[in-house]
Amino acid sequence: MDVMSQPGRPDRAANPGAAGAGGSPGPEPLLRLRGISKHFGAVQALYGVNLDLPGGRVTALVGDNGAGKSVLTKSIAGIHQVDEGEIWWEGRRVHIHSPKDSAALGIETVYQDLALADNLDIVQNMFLGRERLRRGLLDEDAMERAAAETLAGLRVTTVRSIRQPVATLSGGQRQAVAVAKAVMWNSKLVMLDEPTAALGVAQTRMVLDLILRLKDHGLAVMVISHNLNDVFEVADRIAVLRLGRMVAQDDASAFDRQSVVDYMTTGESSRTVSERPANGGRN
Ligand SMILES: Nc1ncnc2c1ncn2[C@@H]1O[C@H](COP(=O)(O)OP(=O)(O)OP(=O)(O)O)[C@@H](O)[C@H]1O
Ligand SMILES: [Mg+2]
Repeated sequence: MDVMSQPGRPDRAANPGAAGAGGSPGPEPLLRLRGISKHFGAVQALYGVNLDLPGGRVTALVGDNGAGKSVLTKSIAGIHQVDEGEIWWEGRRVHIHSPKDSAALGIETVYQDLALADNLDIVQNMFLGRERLRRGLLDEDAMERAAAETLAGLRVTTVRSIRQPVATLSGGQRQAVAVAKAVMWNSKLVMLDEPTAALGVAQTRMVLDLILRLKDHGLAVMVISHNLNDVFEVADRIAVLRLGRMVAQDDASAFDRQSVVDYMTTGESSRTVSERPANGGRN
């Protein structure tokens, strides 16, 4: 018991940027958006959107077609530049101007179709653009080992060979590889835009299990889904966008299916599910 009490590295005395972050109660979420607006020509896609994405939690982003879910995701991913608003990361104000900026913070986005290169195999996909070298040559063994370990760690067991071209994988397996890639690169936030839209029952199950495992690893997960069964199965928090506005955002237990549909379609709900009504996401 003698040396065990030795303290670790002292924390920084103060959390820079915490002051002035907006006086919200509770711990700082990993990602905090405040007043995000975005327009394309005459189309106002987002109006002053607030969103908190805490680590170790799955946040479902829901809303009807055209509500602004993908635009919001792409704004966080650095594909779109926002017109107005603040992005806070680990309590620090940041500016995300490109996908490179978001990747550098530890943000990984998994798109249904764009995530992987069909003609490359699983290992090549997982290391695309970040290949490991040994004496100037690709270190195939090390990359293969890391890819296999990551997939095994996530209990992705249905893939026959990690040297299989991604084109030959099922939809669920493709999603699994895209998620595994995000995990392998030590992401802190993984955003999945409609990850189960094209999947069958068993494949959907696999992706939902993966999402839960990401959360168990302490990552913040944001998942966009039109499937409320999936939403209620994996989400700790639910955020509802309607016509570019965040109309509700709270713990999943504050909602039921009907209230989510109410918020999606009318922007309000008269149903009170728990003792704590869903707030408007404004603080
Ligand atoms: N690149 C763009 N140029 C112009 N308008 C755009 C662009 N991207 C999105 N929009 C508009 O922004 C609004 C929000 O679109 P977004 O793709 O975010 O919807 P969504 O919530 O993802 O819908 P869905 O559930 O159908 O995927 C829509 O009115 C859309 O037409
Ligand atoms: Mg979309």
